[in-house]
Amino acid sequence: MKKTAAITAVGGYTPDYILDNQELMKMVDTTDEWITTRTGINERRILKGEGLGTSDIAVEAVKDLLNQRGIGPEEIDLLICATVTPDLVFPATANIICDKVGAVNAFGYDINAACSGFIFALTTAAKYVESGTHKKVVVVGADKMSSIVDYTDRTTCIIFGDGGGAVLLEENEDGLGIVDSIHKSDGSGKVFLHQKAGGSVKPASIQTVTDREHFVYQEGKSVFKFAVTNMADVSFEIMERNNLKGDDIAYLVPHQANKRIIDATAKRMGIGEEKVMLNIQRYGNTTNGTIPLCLWEWQDKLHKGDKIILAAFGGGFTWGSIYIKWALN
Ligand code: UT7
Repeated sequence: MKKTAAITAVGGYTPDYILDNQELMKMVDTTDEWITTRTGINERRILKGEGLGTSDIAVEAVKDLLNQRGIGPEEIDLLICATVTPDLVFPATANIICDKVGAVNAFGYDINAACSGFIFALTTAAKYVESGTHKKVVVVGADKMSSIVDYTDRTTCIIFGDGGGAVLLEENEDGLGIVDSIHKSDGSGKVFLHQKAGGSVKPASIQTVTDREHFVYQEGKSVFKFAVTNMADVSFEIMERNNLKGDDIAYLVPHQANKRIIDATAKRMGIGEEKVMLNIQRYGNTTNGTIPLCLWEWQDKLHKGDKIILAAFGGGFTWGSIYIKWALN
């Protein structure tokens, strides 16, 4: 049988500080009722502390993963980090994570595909394992969104939070693990969701800081429309091409951007809410962290052979879906 890449351990980390809707109501003109009914979010976690970045979230998740698998950091061959909030513009946050955890035999690099980054990275990582070139590959999805959120903008600050997770991929000879994936992107969506300054087109200047251009800019309604259609369509497409019906699926693991987008996706797939991993109410949208954090929290409820579908939509636009047969008990 063809070798597949299977998740053999999951780690996660969320910072201690809780930013709830009540606190946000003191910061911007909003209400708990508006936030919960429009997004499903009650609270998010924030990484507090001078000099701490995305790698500090990732390191905790990777240590948790290593601990669960019972291996040392020197056994990691490759570490890919999906993030939109790298510690620095360069070098890659993956390298910083490797250094901090002691993954001295690994090489690393980052992937930026906005909120779809984790699933894009997972598919990329799987190719190394399937081909046999690398045995133990870690995929991290982590973001310190509080570093690029404008806490005077009520349309974005209510959504995002900090957190991250990590999975270990190893080869499987029983057909378990990543079975299929579909990934898509459409750069014309850039206008609706981006960070205006800090890149090569508009490097940081006193003016860009004054104009608050180093924060997430989002035209929520437009993004919402594209997200609902595309996340549902791609999830349905992966089911169809693998002859899966709603009843066959143990869990949908959706990117946690808005509960209404998740509900629409589940409905299109014909699966009930009891089969949808949902923690948006506690963590908000942690961008690359959402999907691995769900896997981390639900891993004890999953059984070997369970069919699960990961689905994401994000800035870029980027979107996609992955079909996995769970390999752990
Ligand atoms: O993860 C990456 C991809 N991102 C997404 O998938 C996010 C997709 N978009 C969304 O989740 C939603 O569009 C938001 C949650 C961002 C906004 O919800 P919405 O239902 O689309 O609201 P809206 O932007 O259409 O705004 C409706 C009204 C506006 O007031 P008027 O113009 O009707 O008077 C807004 O000014 O709600 C107002 N509003 C707020 N009111 C209270 C916007 N934000 C807030 C707020 N509190 N925080």
